[in-house]
Amino acid sequence: MPTITPNLNRAILDLRQGKPVAIPTETVYGLAAMIDQESAIKAVFTMKNRPLNHPLIVHVAQDTDLTEWVEELPAYAQKLIDHFWPGPLTLVLRSKPNAINPLISGGQTTVAMRCPNHPIAQKLLLALKTPLVAPSANPFGKISPATAEHVKRSFPESDLTILDGGRCEVGIESTIIDATDPDGYQILRHGLIDEHALSAVIAAGPLKKENTTRVPGRLESHYQPQKTLYYFDDYESLSNFCQKRAGDVFAIASTKPLSVDSQYFRPLATQAETAAFDLYFQLREADESHVICIAIELPPNESAWQGVRERILKAGLPYSINPKP
Ligand code: TXA
Ligand code: MG
Repeated sequence: MPTITPNLNRAILDLRQGKPVAIPTETVYGLAAMIDQESAIKAVFTMKNRPLNHPLIVHVAQDTDLTEWVEELPAYAQKLIDHFWPGPLTLVLRSKPNAINPLISGGQTTVAMRCPNHPIAQKLLLALKTPLVAPSANPFGKISPATAEHVKRSFPESDLTILDGGRCEVGIESTIIDATDPDGYQILRHGLIDEHALSAVIAAGPLKKENTTRVPGRLESHYQPQKTLYYFDDYESLSNFCQKRAGDVFAIASTKPLSVDSQYFRPLATQAETAAFDLYFQLREADESHVICIAIELPPNESAWQGVRERILKAGLPYSINPKP
């Protein structure tokens, strides 16, 4: 059985002995291994049932000198790091030849770097004096964990140490940008730090050209609850659906549909930041409830909402192509 603990020394010991440890970050919990512990990294892939060609993010302590792992940073990337780190922004950068284990990079010549803004993650990284690789601490394709208890439920059989850092403040995974092109960045995965925030810091928007960077995690469905999740472009069609399927549906929407019992309803926040904080929590509550499916209202197609929208679009199905569920 997994052990939830606040004991940093236990986590340090496990990691040094080559065991994966679940760690808190400000976005979601990660399943961490030391960057130089190949067997622990392999164990992370096995535990998650994650295909080996899905690269991992390298997590570093604040003020780490990146030159050991990456080639010269584009000037705008350094500006973004200075502004947003520690924080929920991951940069894909050109790696130094032979500096990164191909297990981490998926055999590519790039590496994703992130400096998490969680005091416990920072303490751990400082104590270890070496970076940690960490995917989200959930089985491949499923919902990411926002609490230590979520991690425990995802890996009930394993002898895993879960370092407790409370509920994650952000609630969805970090924004990932491709920063390999000296001319500018492109967003590979949306998150709380949106295009406006990035562009404001470097006084330039994302590159408009086609992105050729391979991001395996981006291609397929992801973040999936156990129950079927339908998303709706407008509140009215969601409400009609709930009425037709009265008693079967857990609704996450701007207003409670009349036909839905309040125990099967969660509000979709009006602020993107709050909705991100709530999203995985609400989907887990829906999974644990006695209904057949989940209906969620899509938030507006605006910059600040892209992180939440992207999760919903990958986790769910548009109701319109499934008129008779
Ligand atoms: O907030 C987060 O980023 C969390 C916490 C634990 O830090 N981590 C996380 O990791 O979401 P994971 O493994 O679930 O998602 C990492 C994503 C994957 O889609 C992967 O394909 C992409 O990052 N990625 C990693 N390295 C890459 C690279 N070199 N090039 C392109 N994409 C990369
Ligand atoms: Mg993940």
